[in-house]
Amino acid sequence: MITKFLTFSILSIITLTSVTAEDGAGIQIIPSLPKYNTTTSFGLVRILDNPLTLGPELSSKQVGRAEGLYASASRTELSLLMVMNFALTAGKYNGSTITIMGRNRPLMTKVREMPVIGGSGIFRVARGYALTMQATVEYNVYVLHY
Ligand SMILES: *[C@@H]1O[C@H](CO)[C@@H](O)[C@H](O)[C@H]1NC(C)=O
Ligand SMILES: *[C@@H]1O[C@H](CO)[C@@H](O)[C@H](O)[C@H]1NC(C)=O
Repeated sequence: MITKFLTFSILSIITLTSVTAEDGAGIQIIPSLPKYNTTTSFGLVRILDNPLTLGPELSSKQVGRAEGLYASASRTELSLLMVMNFALTAGKYNGSTITIMGRNRPLMTKVREMPVIGGSGIFRVARGYALTMQATVEYNVYVLHY
C-alpha cells in the first residue's frame, strides 16, 4: 500500500485482489427474468463475500473481505450494477471500509472503472475510483480521504 500526502488530504493507492474461491462469482439470490433479455441475464442478483488479498493467490496475505451485491441491470447488453464494501482488517486499516458503487461491463472493456463513493475509519469522506482488469478480479483503488 502506498500513501501519498497531499495538501489537505491523503491519496491512498491500494491494489487488492478479490480472490475467487468456489463461489467467487457470487451466489445467486434472485434469478434473471426470462421474460426479458436472457442473453444479458437481466434481473439477476448475486451476493459475494470474497477474501481480499495483496496478491492474486488465495495464499497471499489477506487484508480484508470484499462484501457486496451485483445485479444484471441492462436489457440490451451485459452490464452490472456493483455495490461493494471492502472491509479491511490489516494493521492500521483494521475496521476501515471503502465503498464502491458503479457500472461494470465485464465483456465490453478491458479496464473497468467504478466510483469509490465513500468509506469509514481511515477512509472517512473518501472519494475516488477503482480500476479492475479483465482477467483478474484485481482492484486498483485510488482514494482521496481525510
Ligand atoms: C439482448 O442482448 C443482446 C446481447 O447484448 C443484444 O445483442 C440484443 O440486442 C438484446 N435484445 C433486446 C431485445 O434488447
Ligand atoms: C482487528 O480488529 C478486531 C476488533 O477490534 C480485532 O479483534 C482483530 O484482532 C484485529 N485484527 C488485526 C489483524 O489486527
